[in-house]
Amino acid sequence: MSSITVNVIDRDGTRTEGVEWNSSESLMEALTRNKFPILATCGGNASCSTCHCYLGASAATATANSPIGDEEEDVLDMLDDTRHEDSRLTCQVEWSEELNGAEVTIAPEW
Ligand code: FES
Repeated sequence: MSSITVNVIDRDGTRTEGVEWNSSESLMEALTRNKFPILATCGGNASCSTCHCYLGASAATATANSPIGDEEEDVLDMLDDTRHEDSRLTCQVEWSEELNGAEVTIAPEW
């Protein structure tokens, strides 16, 4: 199993560097395993939006292996003003070496 690390910015602005993300996990699974406040109510099915994060412009382009699908697009569409260009449902973001060092900002609660 391979792993990379990402930097996570919590809702209160706290930045945690070196958060481990294993290749067997979605980004949501890595965040919840590391005890970040991600509810993941739907269990990773792209239907609840509680795993919403911002990936930053460079990381957003590094997710070519897990582009936004129709279901994710529909859910992101409902977020209105909290949706940004780099918004993703992290349960739909697959591990990729190119995401090593990415900045992941946890989106506000809705
Ligand atoms: S965990 Fe529900 S949308 Fe990602």
